[in-house]
Order: sequence, then structure tokens, then C-alpha cells
Amino acid sequence: MTEMSTVTEAAAPAPKVPTLPDAQTVTEVKHWTDRLFSFRCTRPAALRFRSGEFVMIGLMGDPDPKTGKQKPLLRAYSIASPSWDEELEFYSIKVQDGPLTSKLQHIKVGDEIILRPKPVGTLVHDALLPGKRIWFFATGTGFAPFASLLREPQTYQDYDEVIITHTCREVGELQYGRELIEALKTDELLNEVIGEGFWKKIKYYPTTTREESPKMGRITDLMRSGEAFADLGVAPINPEDDRAMVCGNLAFNLEIKDMLEGYGLEEGANSKPAQYVVEKAFLD
Ligand code: A2P
Repeated sequence: MTEMSTVTEAAAPAPKVPTLPDAQTVTEVKHWTDRLFSFRCTRPAALRFRSGEFVMIGLMGDPDPKTGKQKPLLRAYSIASPSWDEELEFYSIKVQDGPLTSKLQHIKVGDEIILRPKPVGTLVHDALLPGKRIWFFATGTGFAPFASLLREPQTYQDYDEVIITHTCREVGELQYGRELIEALKTDELLNEVIGEGFWKKIKYYPTTTREESPKMGRITDLMRSGEAFADLGVAPINPEDDRAMVCGNLAFNLEIKDMLEGYGLEEGANSKPAQYVVEKAFLD
């Protein structure tokens, strides 16, 4: 009898089986500009990560012309959602001839992506010594790890002030970050968990370099001239009070690293916490 009913069950439609290894399903896609988009996907039940870390994500590559075999095409992406979120969020550039992002930019709700559930990274609170102010320095899609950390309660428990600078070429490229920060004000859950008005600790400093906006220029130049500190109404960076996390393009990372060392800050790591940490934003 038992076997008979097994046969009957087999005739029922099979549950949807993931077609990719480590597959996750896309739940939301937003296009911000012709160069930028963000998306959300399901989170593997076993995935634990610290806000600010990254994982390898991607899609299946084209079949090999000789063997017909397909290999996963993976890149490092900062997780833009905080560690407590039940889904995962990513923020990506679109490079028209980029091996991965030329395809990834076309994903739709219900599609599958590959996600290797092994989070790593240095932009984590554990890599910094206690301080009073935390600076998040981002260019372009380097905002992603800070999208996670700005929604992470520990950020506000550990620091009195949270300063986020974001330098982009054009105004439209600031929109993802701007909306995310604005949404914190009305986020009932975070205001309840972290404390009503927690977002008042944030000082947001967006700048553009190639399109007119209220504040123009590279953050590095604006700090060197003292303009950024004057605008923000804060004292220049010092190793006693200030901690920093940096994520942007390579030239930016190198330049700001040099400046932070000049202010007397030392680079930290998971194994040896110090005063600042750096990570390169992914570019396809
Ligand atoms: P700029 O337009 O002057 O090059 P990208 O999109 O190329 O990654 O650049 C993102 C932003 O980072 C741009 O506004 C760019 O300014 C800025 N940027 C590039 N290099 C540096 C640097 N060394 N220091 C500060 N900002 C930089």
C-alpha cells in the first residue's frame, strides 16, 4: 500500500528544483541610472555574516564552444543589507562589456543567481578599536558595505557620530545612498531596536565631480583644503577619536589611505584591530 501511494505521489508536479549550484532567487530589482542597479535575493538559511562583509556571487557563464560545459562566473560583492535582514541586497555597476555585469544587469524577479555562502572582508567593526566617530568613505558602488553598516545597530552602539561621505561622478549616482539614509528616519524597526532618533548621529556628505550639485569635488581634495571638516562642523581627523572605513576605486583607496596615515591612523585587520580599514569596490 505504501509503495502504491508513493507511485501516485510521483505523478504529482515535482517541487521546483534549483538549476544552479548555490542558487538564490531574485526578489527585487531597481535600476538607479544607466550605470547602476541594486537587487535583493533570498538568503541561504545557514548564511551568517557580519555587516560590511562580501560574498562571491554570479551567474553561469556561456557554454564552452568545444565542450559545451558551463562554468560559474563569480565576482566579489559587498552585501549591502545588514546582518539581521532576512533577505540579501547587492548594489552593482553595469559594465556593457563586463563579463558578469553585462548579464547580471538583466536579471529579473524570479531569476536565480549563484551565491557562495562564505562571507569575508575587512570592513567590519571587529577590525577597529573603540572610538568616538566613525567615518565611512565611499566612491561609486563602494557605498554598498556602508548600506549594510548604516543599518547595523552596532554602528550606533559603538559611536557617537557616524559620518558617511560619498563621491560620485553624477548626481543620479548618489540616489541609492540618499534614499537609503532618508529611509532610516522612518524605519520603525530600527528606531525601536537602536533607539528613537538614532539616525541623528549620521552626517551625510555627498559630493559630485562631473555634474553640478550643491557640493562639488573629490572628498580627498575637500578634506585637504579643510572644507569638508568646516561643512560638517567637525574637528579634523585624529587617532584618538576617529575610526574610518574606506571602500571605493583603487586610486581613491590609495589616496585616502595615505591621508588617514597622515592624520596618524593605523590600518587594522580582523586579527589586529586598529583605526582604519580599506576594501576595494568591485568593478567588472
Ligand atoms: P573624478 O570624476 O574626478 O575621477 P569612478 O566612477 O571612476 O569609480 O569614480 C567614482 C568617483 O570617485 C568619481 O567622482 C571620481 O572623481 C572619484 N575619484 C576617482 N579617483 C579618486 C581619488 N584618487 N580620490 C578621490 N576621488 C576619486
